[in-house]
Amino acid sequence: MDDRIIATSFTEEDVDYERTLRPKRLDEFIGQARVKDSLDLFIAAAKNRGEALDHVMLSGPPGLGKTTLAGIIANELGVGIKVTSGPAIERAGDLAAILTNLQPSDVLFIDEIHRLHRQVEEILYPAMEDFELDIIIGKGPSARSLRLELPHFTMVGATTRQGLITSPLRDRFGVNCRFDYYANDELDEIIKRSAAILDVAIDSAGALEVARRSRGTPRVANRLLKRVRDYAQVKGDGHITKDIADKALAFLEVDEFGLDRTDRQILHTLIEKFAGAPVGLNTLAASIGEETETLEDVYEPYLLQLGFIQRTPRGRVATERACRHLGLDNPNAAGQSSENQLF
Ligand SMILES: Nc1ncnc2c1ncn2[C@@H]1O[C@H](COP(=O)(O)OP(=O)(O)O)[C@@H](O)[C@H]1O
Ligand SMILES: [Mg+2]
Repeated sequence: MDDRIIATSFTEEDVDYERTLRPKRLDEFIGQARVKDSLDLFIAAAKNRGEALDHVMLSGPPGLGKTTLAGIIANELGVGIKVTSGPAIERAGDLAAILTNLQPSDVLFIDEIHRLHRQVEEILYPAMEDFELDIIIGKGPSARSLRLELPHFTMVGATTRQGLITSPLRDRFGVNCRFDYYANDELDEIIKRSAAILDVAIDSAGALEVARRSRGTPRVANRLLKRVRDYAQVKGDGHITKDIADKALAFLEVDEFGLDRTDRQILHTLIEKFAGAPVGLNTLAASIGEETETLEDVYEPYLLQLGFIQRTPRGRVATERACRHLGLDNPNAAGQSSENQLF
C-alpha cells in the first residue's frame, strides 16, 4: 500500500486526487522560481505579439510539476491543450492526426517525450520548425508525398530523462526548463495549500514535518498528506500535529529523510549483500525486485541528492553517510569502524 506514495503507477483515485490539487495559474505554482520567472516573461511576450509561444521542454524527476506546468502554460496563454505521450503515438499517422487538429497557438503536450518512436520523431522536426507536415499517401509506385501547412502551435515536451533526448529534437525547443527538487519551505507551502483545499486541519509543525519527509517532491507531499490525514482521523481527532505526523509517518515506514522501505532496501543491498562493491543498475534492480527505470528515475536521483549513494564507472556504491544513517558498518572502511568505537 505504501508503494503508491513514491511509485509512478496511478489508480483512478490517484489521478482524481492530483487533479483536485493541481494549480491552474502560474501564481499558484509554488517554488521553481527560475522556471516560473522565465515562463512568465516568455508567455507575456508571446501574448503581446499575438504569436504562439516558443516550444518548451520541461525536464526533471517525476512528481515535480511538469504536467501541472504544461496545463498552466495553456491556461495563461488562453489557448487549448492537447495531451498525449511519447509511447502513445505509435505511428506517424497518429501524430499527423493530432497536429492537423490543432487550433492556432494551441499547446501540444507530449509527456515522456524521450520515448517517442523514431519515425514519429522525424515527422516532428519540420512540424516544430516550419509548421509543415510531410505525409506519404498510398503505397508502392503510386505513393506520393503531400505537404500540409500546420497552424503555429506550441509544443510542450516533458521528460524525466533529458539525457535520452536526441540532439535534433532538443535543438527545436526554444525554452528549456529544468526542475529541481523543492526546498522544505516550498513543500510546506504546498502542503498547507493542499490541506486548505481538502479542508484538513494541520498545524505549522505538522505541515513542516510532512514537508521534511516528502523527498523534495510535491506529489509525495500530497500523498503523504492524504495518508497522514487518514491516520489523524482514525487515531486522533482529525487534526494533524507534529506528534500525529511523526506517528503516521513511522507507521508508513517513511523515515526522517523521507526514505521508504525500497530506498532502505537499496542501501542495505549495496552495503550488505554486495559488501560495498560497485553494483550495476540492472543487477541492483533485479536484486530488489524493482524496475530499472523506476530505480533510475525515482530512487537513484534522490539518494544521490542526499549523498547516500555515488555513481562510479563500475556501478553504484553506498556512502559512509548512508552507512551511518542505517547504523551499519561501512564495508569499504575495513578496520575503521572498530577503531572509531575506541574514541
Ligand atoms: N509547484 C507546485 N505547486 C503546487 N503543487 C504542485 C507543484 N508541483 C506539483 N504539484 C502537485 O504535485 C502533483 C504532481 O505534479 P505533476 O505535475 O503531475 O508532476 P510531474 O508531471 O512532474 O510528474 C500534482 O498533484 C500537482 O498538483
Ligand atoms: Mg507528469
